[in-house]
Amino acid sequence: MKRIKLAFAGREIEFIDRERALKQIFEWAEKGTWDVHVIYGPEGCGKTALLKQIKMLLEEEFNYYVIYVSPLAKDLREILIYTPTIREIVEEVVKSFPESYSKIVDVAITIASRVMRRIRKPKIAVLMDDIFQAIGLDKAEIYTKILLNLIEYPPEEYERIVVIVVSSEGVTWERIGRHRWADIFVMWNMSRDGFEELYKLLPEPKPSFEEVWRLTGGNPDVLEKLYKSNWSVEAVLSRIIREKSLYEWISTLDSYTRELLEEALEDPDAILRKLREEAARKLRDELIARNLISRMWERDEFGWIDFPPPEKDLELGIGEFYAWQTPLHREAVRRILKKF
Ligand SMILES: Nc1ncnc2c1ncn2[C@@H]1O[C@H](COP(=O)(O)OP(=O)(O)OP(=O)(O)O)[C@@H](O)[C@H]1O
Ligand SMILES: [Mg+2]
Repeated sequence: MKRIKLAFAGREIEFIDRERALKQIFEWAEKGTWDVHVIYGPEGCGKTALLKQIKMLLEEEFNYYVIYVSPLAKDLREILIYTPTIREIVEEVVKSFPESYSKIVDVAITIASRVMRRIRKPKIAVLMDDIFQAIGLDKAEIYTKILLNLIEYPPEEYERIVVIVVSSEGVTWERIGRHRWADIFVMWNMSRDGFEELYKLLPEPKPSFEEVWRLTGGNPDVLEKLYKSNWSVEAVLSRIIREKSLYEWISTLDSYTRELLEEALEDPDAILRKLREEAARKLRDELIARNLISRMWERDEFGWIDFPPPEKDLELGIGEFYAWQTPLHREAVRRILKKF
């Protein structure tokens, strides 16, 4: 399978590893997705990279018409990408929306409907990168339903349809999970072998692979940040502390909640064991909303895209039910907790 080119740490590299994910996507491409597939994963674990690889696979190996939206893309040209043969339809729809950028998800859905009307029995894919933040977390459910309607009540027949949404917004998981509108999957940071391949692309001098693995837990974005800050762990930590307003947040916690948080540093499942308490529930919700921990589930073969993480790896902050998104996320919290 052809692999996409990606920008990583100031160089152009090829999409690495994720072998199982690619096999899974291959099956989706062959059969269609039947409903909306929502993929959750930690910040920076490689969701966008995977979605771009999916786009290429669907277009080049399966002849899908692909509509790809990424409302938060830094490069404006990446907000809406599509298979060139539907350009006319896309331009027509974009013109009919006076504020097409702020309504980009609606634009994409309209394009998909119009492709079904104009092209006889198309294979069509709608890929959405981090749309929940853009449309508002409270609208995640309704948009998932709108996407499901596109699958179940299309304006015209299609041959196959693939609808995939990727997100790091754990807050929306519970809301979407309540309905039968979507199939939820989780992806984790990179596997050790894949991550080592990525690490090897970076020039010396650099810390040992063991050390980098221990710090990042296989998160490629954290690796890139470490590299860009000349491997200064302190620089990356203070960035996480700032971006997530950890000082402000932790200073508002009462002493009992801080104790709970301290237990969660050792084992994130400690929170689960206390979920009957209001304080533990609030703490868990806050940790998920701030993208510090992720919800996990059984490591069976169905709920995961690519290989699931181990059942438990407390050194990396991975519990059975919850996991720190990366060891550095946990370390950032530890630093601030120590101040109180
Ligand atoms: N399989 C891979 N092979 C090579 N590089 C990768 C791979 N996955 C991710 N990367 C690189 O790692 C970095 C982070 O990946 P990416 O932006 O896809 O993560 P993300 O999960 O979409 O992050 P965010 O939560 O911020 O949207 C990028 O520089 C990307 O190019
Ligand atoms: Mg992304």
